[in-house]
Amino acid sequence: MNTIMSESYPYIIQPEDIHTGITGIDQEHQILVNMLNIASEQLTDDCGRLSNEEIIRDLLSYALYHFDNEEALMLEYQYPTAEREKHVREHRDFSTSVAQLRLAANKGKRVTREELLNFLKAWFVKHISGTDKQLAIFLGKLDPSLSSKA
Ligand SMILES: [Fe+2]
Repeated sequence: MNTIMSESYPYIIQPEDIHTGITGIDQEHQILVNMLNIASEQLTDDCGRLSNEEIIRDLLSYALYHFDNEEALMLEYQYPTAEREKHVREHRDFSTSVAQLRLAANKGKRVTREELLNFLKAWFVKHISGTDKQLAIFLGKLDPSLSSKA
C-alpha cells in the first residue's frame, strides 16, 4: 500500500483559499487555519468535553485577538464607517455564535465535532474571502507596504 499521499492532518482549510494579500492579516489567518486544522484532528465526539472545551477556548481567544488587530487597522487607516461597522458586526456575530455553542455544550447539549468544524470552516472561508478581502484591498491601495511581496 502506498502511503506517500497520506497527510497527518485532514487540512480542512488550505491557506491559499483565504489569502488576502496583507502580510500581517495573512500571518494571523495562517495561525487560525493551523489551529483549526489541528483542532479537526484533536476534537472528539465522545471523549471528555473538557479537552474539547480547551481547544474551542484557545481558538476563540486567538480569533478575538486577531479581530482586535483587524479592527485597529480599520481605525488607523480610516476605513469607511459603514464598511467598518458591517465588518465589526460579523466579528461580534461570530463570538456570539461560538459562545452559544459553548453554553449549549456546557448545559449538556451534544454539539458534534462535525457541527462545530463545519460552522468554523464555513464562517472563516466566507468572512475572509469576502469581508476581509475587501478590507485588504482598501489597505493595500492606501499603504502598499502592508502588502505581501508574493
Ligand atoms: Fe475580519
